[in-house]
Amino acid sequence: MSETPHRKPRILLGVTGSIAAYKSLELVKYLKSSAEVRVVLTAAGSRLVPENELKKASGFPVWTSLFKGATPIKPGTPGGSHPLAVVPHIEYAKTADLILIAPATADILGKLVQGLADDLLSTLCLYASCPIWAAPAMNVRMWNHPAVVSNRKILLARGVSFLGPDNGHLACGEVGDGRFAEPREIAFQVESHFRHFGEWTGKKVLVAAGPTREPLDPVRVITNHSSGKMGYALAQAALNRGAEVILVSGPTRLIPPAGIKTYWVETAEEMRNRVHRNFPKSDILIMAAAVSDYRPSRVSKTKLKKTSGGLTLRLRKNPDILAEALKNKKSSQIIVGFSAETDHLAQNALNKWKKKPCDILVANQVGKKGSGFGTDRNEILVFSRKNPKPLWFKNDLKSRLAEKLLDEINKF
Ligand code: C5P
Repeated sequence: MSETPHRKPRILLGVTGSIAAYKSLELVKYLKSSAEVRVVLTAAGSRLVPENELKKASGFPVWTSLFKGATPIKPGTPGGSHPLAVVPHIEYAKTADLILIAPATADILGKLVQGLADDLLSTLCLYASCPIWAAPAMNVRMWNHPAVVSNRKILLARGVSFLGPDNGHLACGEVGDGRFAEPREIAFQVESHFRHFGEWTGKKVLVAAGPTREPLDPVRVITNHSSGKMGYALAQAALNRGAEVILVSGPTRLIPPAGIKTYWVETAEEMRNRVHRNFPKSDILIMAAAVSDYRPSRVSKTKLKKTSGGLTLRLRKNPDILAEALKNKKSSQIIVGFSAETDHLAQNALNKWKKKPCDILVANQVGKKGSGFGTDRNEILVFSRKNPKPLWFKNDLKSRLAEKLLDEINKF
């Protein structure tokens, strides 16, 4: 959103022809609690979700055609009064705060890349000047097709943000990436974009996320199960608030949000270099990465051979990035650390907080189903210098926990 409007934010919701199109009805319901929603339905979308239902859900007529509502040009009409200049969807697109394409098919992504304008939605995407967000939904093989992968990259570079897709069971019966993100989650992201936008303008936020990978030989690594989801959710939340965000990411399968400068790293040493280079100019450092504490003392140039007996590995300690940052910290900087524990969460985290006195230490239980590493959810215990007692944030989506953590950071 370019400025904080006094009116309700305006969303132009593009519904395209994915099986998940029927979920747009639920999405409209959630979006409406914080925004005005006007729907543009593509021809393929209209075969999957009835226009009338979307009209009922949004409370407005659904736009399906570029020409509906436009009066034909009468011979002799002066050039300045072209009918497209006055049709309602064009007028609306001019003042929209966000175009959300949900679900977004491979087809609309391709059209956006090519700059095609052969239907109403693609035309409005070229015309409007507001941000475009896309929540893709398609078969996993389509999502991973080189053409779609390349289109995603181009769109990201142009500033299109992606919400999802999730990994899981797909409508076609296959399993993998391509599942439409949960409508409630999409609406949550949109709402937080509008609610907090601008709050962190001028702040520089550095986030380290994901695992590290320590090579043993050219084919083997020591790593962990971190998915990077918590760190990415924090980066997204900071971006939603208008901060300038730098993400230092270990290897993950996630797509960093558009508008975030991302450095990809493998080892703890590489992560340390990137973090330390960017830390001095950051206002906030969030170390959500699961940094490998050790690395092999020696990296073999060739693949280690199997022997008849066992194999003993010699490991050496990795630098502690967070501890080093704490030593160099200026009083104006805020540092958030994480503490992943399998047992005695509160006690172990408290011990860690004494050793690494971050402004905020976030303790999370790992190795438990439905929370921690690799999942979309987490439950966390938050130690903050601003709170007399630790706060318990019960099991919730990482995106929501990220918002709550940012609210804790706001107390400094
Ligand atoms: O001591 P422990 O590894 O549990 O500390 C976790 C916190 O320290 C996390 O914030 C993690 O990102 C950070 N860390 C680090 N460098 C390491 C190990 C952990 O910055 N080598």
